[in-house]
Amino acid sequence: MKAILLENIHSVAAEAFRRAGFEVDLRSTSLSEDELVAALPGVSVLGIRSNTNITPAVLDAGKDLLAVGCFCIGTNQVDLDSAAERGIAVFNAPYSNTRSVVELVMGEIVALARRLTEKTQRMHEGVWDKSAKGSHEVRRRTLGIVGYGNIGTQLSNIAEAFGMRVIFYDTADRLAHGNATRVGTLEQLLAESDVVSIHVDGRPGNAGLFGAEQFAMMKPGAAFINASRGMVVDEIALRDHIRSGHLSGAAIDVFPLEPKAQGDPFDSPLRGLDNVILTPHVGGSTQEAQEGIGHFVSDKLLRFVGAGSTALSVNMPQVAAPQPQGKFRMAYLHQNSPGVLAEINRLLADARVNVVGQSLSTRGEHGYVLTDTDAVLSDDTLSALRRSPQTIWLRTWQL
Ligand SMILES: NC(=O)c1ccc[n+]([C@@H]2O[C@H](COP(=O)([O-])OP(=O)(O)OC[C@H]3O[C@@H](n4cnc5c(N)ncnc54)[C@H](O)[C@@H]3O)[C@@H](O)[C@H]2O)c1
Repeated sequence: MKAILLENIHSVAAEAFRRAGFEVDLRSTSLSEDELVAALPGVSVLGIRSNTNITPAVLDAGKDLLAVGCFCIGTNQVDLDSAAERGIAVFNAPYSNTRSVVELVMGEIVALARRLTEKTQRMHEGVWDKSAKGSHEVRRRTLGIVGYGNIGTQLSNIAEAFGMRVIFYDTADRLAHGNATRVGTLEQLLAESDVVSIHVDGRPGNAGLFGAEQFAMMKPGAAFINASRGMVVDEIALRDHIRSGHLSGAAIDVFPLEPKAQGDPFDSPLRGLDNVILTPHVGGSTQEAQEGIGHFVSDKLLRFVGAGSTALSVNMPQVAAPQPQGKFRMAYLHQNSPGVLAEINRLLADARVNVVGQSLSTRGEHGYVLTDTDAVLSDDTLSALRRSPQTIWLRTWQL
């Protein structure tokens, strides 16, 4: 089988595919629609990052394409429904860069408390301005985490190791890590925290979660951090509360409007404010995160191609392939209509083949069944299933 990996995907992915026997075409750039259409025949796996658009025309050209791996977090660049209709599974790496975000935020908590951006700026201007005014230890200060998911929980542990008191607010029922304490309302968190750090997800209801009312409820002198989504924060309201001195500083990594390309101009009401750290959405951008993403996505792609596992696919019904049982595995993607499982099992019973393991999952218009049997299925049995009108594809492995 052949894999094309575009956009400088970390070399661990190419190594994993080569180890699995793939021919790998590794490229540093993305490809245009026309270039992809020309390149895809004969390719089983396509690896991309955020600059390659996977359109219906590209998917149509991918006659041999089994899966697309997005070696990044987002999947907006892929027409997921069109891929699902054609039976092409899409995977991404939703968690691999979370530690990188946590380390940046922890650094910013200290940098804001010590007003480091101002100190370094003065030194570069050639001014020795040694003063403890406005500088604090973070030990014994309270960190309020809004959104206690993958990132919020890791930050909780690391901040406690720094000696901070951690409280958190989450709309879902989350287990408190270490000595962290859950608070019942956002208002309570805002009233108690010396630093508020936002780590909520991008659900539409979170747009404008932080505006003038919320900033006004924060403690005088508190600092504010957002490395989640730009749309969560009203930047003008944040600017006003920093200018008035009510908040001591902020660190912002994500913006409502972010430039598209490297080198594009950037503007924000937060530019030019004292003790405000602005970073270009780099929370998750580290070499280690890229390597983690390379491992994670190649692993999901190889488990799909090699064993039929759709676990963590973003557009397929999810079935985590169990350890192989029996002698034969059949993976069957079909239109989600009543009676498909009964039809499979009737065919197997007619062929006098025993099922030793079977998992079914549905997602929207599609259903996916993995069946392990104690005997190899004959071509006749498989052909009967392949001819069925609801069949999208059927793949088999001898175990
Ligand atoms: N800056 C970066 O480079 C970068 C990198 C990775 C992730 N992110 C972003 O960080 C955020 C957190 O990522 P994650 O992996 O921890 O997500 P997650 O889904 O694991 O956790 C989000 C948590 O927020 C909670 N939540 C949602 N809305 C809430 C609300 N209004 N009030 C309180 N709690 C709420 C959810 O219940 C969940 O526990 C996401 O928005 C993600 O896109 C940014």
